[in-house]
Amino acid sequence: MRKKIVAGNWKMNKNLQEGMALAAELNDILKAEKPNCDVVICTPFIHLAKVSDMIDHSVIGLGAENCADKKSGAYTGEVSAEMVRSTGAEYVILGHSERREYYHETPEILREKVLLALEQGLKVIFCIGESLAEREANKQNAVVKAELEGSVFNLSADDFKKIVIAYEPIWAIGTGKTATSDQAEEIHAYIRSVIAEKYGKEVAEETSILYGGSCKASNAPELFAKPDIDGGLIGGASLKAADFKGIIDAWK
Ligand code: 13P
Repeated sequence: MRKKIVAGNWKMNKNLQEGMALAAELNDILKAEKPNCDVVICTPFIHLAKVSDMIDHSVIGLGAENCADKKSGAYTGEVSAEMVRSTGAEYVILGHSERREYYHETPEILREKVLLALEQGLKVIFCIGESLAEREANKQNAVVKAELEGSVFNLSADDFKKIVIAYEPIWAIGTGKTATSDQAEEIHAYIRSVIAEKYGKEVAEETSILYGGSCKASNAPELFAKPDIDGGLIGGASLKAADFKGIIDAWK
């Protein structure tokens, strides 16, 4: 049975003290009432080491939102996969549309990042998803397939099993405009079929595919009820413990 996951992506929010307070609050809530799914929080780099020491990793997984495409050396301002791992983090988000768009991360760069992250034993939450123009031109399937082919289909089946896919239609991110559960299910099933074509049905059935884009407590139950939606990657609604818990409870 593939894993059900609710992962938070804090993006560039919360200073260190605020982030520690949120992590502590969430840790207390989830220790008191064990979730029915895996829970992960992905924080800015500077929070990782402190948050890692504070949380019970058997209840909350920890991830970074990015890592460098180089192993080490003279790359001022970059943070390597090894550094991320050394904080105690277990996950890293790669390929987020904000990284692709604002920081010009190409499929080739992302392929390097994925390899370096896996080399360090990190699990990769790999994001794919189409823009509004691509959706309106009915190109969403081609877009997500190309994104998989461009950065993760070079992996062996054993390595691919360490990847969690997050489908995040760009038009739904932070817009309050969620994909309908039918729209999301349709493309999740397509993504699973593309993985099956490449790695076989067994690997495809084991791959967790998360939905991201204005997911909140009110729409999570309907989305998560779909057979090919294995949880969510949550932006805005991961910034308050009660909101995030509401989404986690959709698995109850
Ligand atoms: P929102 O939940 O704020 O729409 O963000 C989704 C997202 O980009 C998660 O990575």
